Amino acid sequence: MIRLAVVGLGRMGRAVVEEAERRGHVVTARIDGATARRGFDATTLGDAQVAIEFTRPDAVVGNVRRLIELGVPVVTGTTGWLDELPVVTDLVRSKGGALLHAANFSIGAHLMFRVAREMGRLLATRPEFDAAIHECHHRKKLDAPSGTALALQRAVREGDPARPYPITSERVGSVPGIHTLTIDGERESLSLTHAVRDRATFAVGAVSAAEWLVGRSGVFRFEHVLFGDAS
Ligand SMILES: NC(=O)c1ccc[n+]([C@@H]2O[C@H](COP(=O)([O-])OP(=O)(O)OC[C@H]3O[C@@H](n4cnc5c(N)ncnc54)[C@H](OP(=O)(O)O)[C@@H]3O)[C@@H](O)[C@H]2O)c1
Repeated sequence: MIRLAVVGLGRMGRAVVEEAERRGHVVTARIDGATARRGFDATTLGDAQVAIEFTRPDAVVGNVRRLIELGVPVVTGTTGWLDELPVVTDLVRSKGGALLHAANFSIGAHLMFRVAREMGRLLATRPEFDAAIHECHHRKKLDAPSGTALALQRAVREGDPARPYPITSERVGSVPGIHTLTIDGERESLSLTHAVRDRATFAVGAVSAAEWLVGRSGVFRFEHVLFGDAS
């Protein structure tokens, strides 16, 4: 059993509360947008050992900064802020804190990144193929392309840096997330697709990451939890 605070009570924050309680953890604080914007302190957080943050690209850095200053390890799944990761990493290290961030807390997406890296390596000597990434999400998603599509692009280009792997984004209905990497040649086509059926998948991953982070310090990714390294 761990004591955790949940920051952001949108679709993901509510799914995290449900998953944490299902596992017998104690949710010491549920911090919504209005509370966070007024500013929160140690009392607001209760005696949380770790916080899970799912908010918005323009709110995450302020929340992470505040939590690290209060000495609370943070798991964040918010996307669209990685340009600011170097500054946040410096802060976490200077305070001896702990941060785990991931654009995607599903196991399948991370398996896909690893397969994509290998696919890129094997494709690098085959100019006869075009390659592209497509992502589809619900219409309320704020950032495009998705953080997962960008991570997939980084993974495949590690093995095949000369090919651009352009990303197209679609926003429709209530889709939790579909990512497809396609290579297309004159006479054949291959697609690798990851589709999330239920955002509880992400909540399971985020709560597992919070369990893992308690007692650690440093900056981590979900690969550390899944595979023991982030290579
Ligand atoms: N890593 C993953 O596996 C994963 C999976 C799904 C989604 N995501 C990402 O997670 C984020 C949240 O997604 P979602 O679907 O839960 O979005 P959402 O339903 O729009 O929820 C966002 C919530 O954040 C709250 N909020 C806004 N500013 C805040 C602040 N300063 N402090 C605390 N809360 C604040 C909003 O509350 P108010 O309305 O009161 O402002 C809203 O309830 C997005 O960036 C999304 O891309 C990541």
